[in-house]
Amino acid sequence: MTTENFSADFGPFHGKTWLNCAHQGPLPKASAAEAREAVSWKQTPYELTTERFGGVPERVRTALGRVIGVGPEEIILGNSASYGMHLLANGIPWKPGDEVLLVKGDFPSVLLPWMGLSKRGGGVTVRQIDPSETALTVDELRAHLTPATRVFCTTWVHSFRGHALDLDALGAVCRSNGVTFIVNTSQGLGARPLNVRETPVDAITNVGFKWLCGPYGTGFCWMRSELLDSLDYNQAYWLSMLTADDLSKPLDDLTLREDLGARKYDVFGTANFFNFKPWAASIEYLLDIGFERIAVHDQSLVSRFLEGLDRNRYVVQSPIDGPSRSTLVLLSHKKPDLNEKIYTALIDAGVYGAHRGGSLRIAPHLYNTNADIDRALEVLNGFDSG
Ligand SMILES: Cc1ncc(COP(=O)(O)O)c(C=O)c1O
Repeated sequence: MTTENFSADFGPFHGKTWLNCAHQGPLPKASAAEAREAVSWKQTPYELTTERFGGVPERVRTALGRVIGVGPEEIILGNSASYGMHLLANGIPWKPGDEVLLVKGDFPSVLLPWMGLSKRGGGVTVRQIDPSETALTVDELRAHLTPATRVFCTTWVHSFRGHALDLDALGAVCRSNGVTFIVNTSQGLGARPLNVRETPVDAITNVGFKWLCGPYGTGFCWMRSELLDSLDYNQAYWLSMLTADDLSKPLDDLTLREDLGARKYDVFGTANFFNFKPWAASIEYLLDIGFERIAVHDQSLVSRFLEGLDRNRYVVQSPIDGPSRSTLVLLSHKKPDLNEKIYTALIDAGVYGAHRGGSLRIAPHLYNTNADIDRALEVLNGFDSG
């Protein structure tokens, strides 16, 4: 299979190979240029106009809406995946006895906000399902649901195990049991398409700085309108309700606006030009290429890696085919004690993967090439433990 080459739109990488998009996605060149422009606006603050204060967040919202198949008015702008997760944990109107189901071993930002909720004393119980295999199955979820289960929350693609869960199947179980299905899509969105209108999810939270190639400190949340309307959470941010120009008038009749929709819950400081201007450019760049095409590219890199890896020495721990295969490849030397040394050998050779939970993780995305994969394979297959 031929692999397209998008690498000229990124970098320069100065001879290094970045195979750790599951940690940080690199900023495309076009986005870096927009970041520089944002810096220049701040150097000459008369360029920070009211139009730009409103326009930059609107541009991000519009681009994100196109990514997940909704209008801009449904996007809540955030700074992380944790932001949206806290909004949900703190805003859902709980009743004593309600139960939240999670998956043991999930990424901490999926677990901690709910653990915090259970400590708050409102009578909400949090239970973590311990999957019998690496990935939770639909039957396991069904078996763990009780009449008290109100929410099931999980990651889509597991950060440390690399499997992608079947959102359609899990969501169908949640729907038929009246359970709210909340998904952290951070390790999938950008590397594969997701349309929230066609998928039985009730809310998603996502970082902007991995597969969406934005700066660190970006993220968003989306939730179904019924869930949004049900939130009981005091957030009344002045810049969501007014503009700086409104300050020129007397504010004697200040009232709360009730017509804001999702943006009522935007993170404070949405006109954070340094982050949101380049992030908007990154998302628009990805949208121009298209997520189906990006997924084909990314998966061809994963295939090349899996085909080239010496299986006499390495065990692949993440799914090697089918829809549960993601762009996060987890592997271990057959002598796992060597993984740390191999991770260091990769870095010494200028190849940046990750060392997670004792395993090695390779996570290629759009900017990577076949040559990047071959370079990683050369170090891995050539590693001499002696
Ligand atoms: C699945 C997942 N969610 C979230 C994050 C980051 O969380 P946050 O944006 O809340 O810091 C990571 C990794 O950094 C992750 O792997």
